[in-house]
Amino acid sequence: MYILGIETSCDETGVAIYHPDRGLVCHHLYSQIKMHSDYGGVVPELASRDHIRKLLPMITKVLEDAELDKSQLDAIAYTSGPGLMGALLVGATTARSLAWSLNIPAIAVHHMEGHLLAPMLEDDAPEFPFVALLVSGGHTLLIQVNAIGEYIALGESLDDAAGEAFDKTAKMLGLGYPGGPKVSKLAESGVQRFNFPRPMTDRPGLDFSFSGLKTYTMNTLNKTAKTEQDKADIAYAFQKATAETMVIKCRRALQQTGLKRLVIAGGVSANKQIRAELTEMTDAENARLYFPRLEFCTDNGAMIAYAGCQRLLAGQKERLEIYARPRWPVSELYPI
Ligand code: KG4
Ligand code: ZN
Repeated sequence: MYILGIETSCDETGVAIYHPDRGLVCHHLYSQIKMHSDYGGVVPELASRDHIRKLLPMITKVLEDAELDKSQLDAIAYTSGPGLMGALLVGATTARSLAWSLNIPAIAVHHMEGHLLAPMLEDDAPEFPFVALLVSGGHTLLIQVNAIGEYIALGESLDDAAGEAFDKTAKMLGLGYPGGPKVSKLAESGVQRFNFPRPMTDRPGLDFSFSGLKTYTMNTLNKTAKTEQDKADIAYAFQKATAETMVIKCRRALQQTGLKRLVIAGGVSANKQIRAELTEMTDAENARLYFPRLEFCTDNGAMIAYAGCQRLLAGQKERLEIYARPRWPVSELYPI
């Protein structure tokens, strides 16, 4: 059973082929970062147009590299939300039309479920149940995952998402887009000098808030001469506060649920400092941390092919209509 996975929810065109026995057969990714960086962030209309340009040639290429003909495909999985409406529609229209022409099923995948299941593509995949921290540009979610589609929300960000906080901090520091990797790089030359708050950690609960941290960063920056070292020290303090806040909340979630497996996924899970601090915490808690390989932390087609495959194998069927959901709470997903 060969499944073609298509991801076009934001600024990355991702295409992959997954087979339940062979695993990931082939995947390709095209990032639009360069195009959007002139504007300091993603321009939705440009994103959609670029997906239109790239998607079909990338599907041809992935089939060629996998040495498959399109007639050998058994199903197509595509991201149908959440994300940018125009960008999502490119993937949805292409996937559904191609599936219809090949007379095979197409399945709509929730982008965050894709991220959540990305560690399953690794040899050492976590078993259910586990706690998952999903940290991307648009979402910060702590979830108890009992099985695919059986998600219990434990906590979420009440304002900015973790990735958004990294992106805004980068902007303040004059680093440009996308912020996460740039703040992280600059933090490497920073030293412990400022003590930033760990928001919402002094009260019970598993929700997050990152907007106060953003203001604190701005105020601190305004009080310095803004030398390269000042900026590096601020990046260091911001990253440290974010990582420690995640550690505190994840430890609490493990203790509250009694689970010993923690998954971290989504773009921010590529952050080395966050990974290191969470590893230290899970070791101390006699628990284990799982994360996707670096290239599957951020958006990609492999995670969509995998998630779609699991739902298809469980017998999920959908009507032929083409749809995309820019907003789509994880809690609305069906168990399989
Ligand atoms: O999951 P993703 O690729 O797209 C969304 O679904 O949003 O996540 C993108 C986010 C961006 O905010 C980006 O700045 C952040 O992930 N990010 C990072 C790192 N790499 C990407 N944040 C912190 N450290 C990183 N190394
Ligand atoms: Zn994503």
